[in-house]
Amino acid sequence: MSQETYLTGITTTGTPHIGNYVGAIRPSVDSSKDRSRRNFYFLADYHSLAKAEDPERIHRSGLEVAATWLACGLDTDNAVFYRQSDIPEIPELTWILNGVTAKGLMNRAHSYKAQVQANEESGSSDPDKGIIMALYNYPILMAADILMFKATKVPVGRDQKQHMEMTRDIAQRFNHRYGDLLVIPDAEINEHTAVLSGLDGRKMSKSYDNIIPLFSDEKKLRKLIMKIKTNSLEPGEPKETEGSTLFEIYKAFATEDEVRDIEKRYADGIAWGEMKQVLFEYINEHIKPARNEYNRLINDPAIVEQELVKGAERARELSVPYLREIRHAIGIRKLG
Ligand code: TRP
Repeated sequence: MSQETYLTGITTTGTPHIGNYVGAIRPSVDSSKDRSRRNFYFLADYHSLAKAEDPERIHRSGLEVAATWLACGLDTDNAVFYRQSDIPEIPELTWILNGVTAKGLMNRAHSYKAQVQANEESGSSDPDKGIIMALYNYPILMAADILMFKATKVPVGRDQKQHMEMTRDIAQRFNHRYGDLLVIPDAEINEHTAVLSGLDGRKMSKSYDNIIPLFSDEKKLRKLIMKIKTNSLEPGEPKETEGSTLFEIYKAFATEDEVRDIEKRYADGIAWGEMKQVLFEYINEHIKPARNEYNRLINDPAIVEQELVKGAERARELSVPYLREIRHAIGIRKLG
């Protein structure tokens, strides 16, 4: 069997939280060390334009996201770690893919449709009110990210399934018209990866404002964990682990033996205050070395920049000649 190429993008909006860590960062860092496959990880900074965020926020988020991945141990000798905007071939390929992408396909994108629906529900006379092309074209840029490096496997969350189907559709149309130049990728959606709940018990998400930033300092981490919602059972009363956010988060970090021990303490009626203390100490110890490294990198962004420059050089060794081939195939080439 030929070697698999794994590729995944991380949007640079917001500060990485423990839900991101468990769901995406930790599995990807493990994967980056696997020498049997090629790995590409990149900061999807042009994708951040779909949300029209503040420039300073986007810039800061890029640093935070990159520093987080590096601090968590991403193997940048094995994996290629780069910034999307350092690869000019990606937006070029995006434009080329525009030539084979049906507008109707984009009309069906969930995130676009959600905004149209919101406009309709608010009684607006224009269903496209406030919708920018960077949102509408988002799936085409994502397709270019993936197709640029001939990815065969794309590990993503369930919410990205439709984007992956669109990528395959776009690539197939291209190949049909111009010859088999693009590699058709598969999504890899891991159903077993834990999805963590946030402070209020809903899914941990920046948009619900219920996150625990991965590298909060000790004081902040303690404060946030103390805020996690519990039920009103008293100390000494047996408690269910099922549906307990404290337990769920603990389980995502601890070993099987440790989890079994905590299950017993739930049955014995551990007080919520005590469980919060246990969880705080556990996470705090677990992330301490990476947090020190994170703080070092945040205070010395030139180190992070250097890593990204190294990654971009490696990435462009592939993207430059490949884009030349693609342009040739579509008839954009020198005259003589
Ligand atoms: N859209 C993805 C997300 O929001 C991020 C992303 C951009 C991506 N380009 C990608 C993921 C390419 C995988 C492959 O999570």
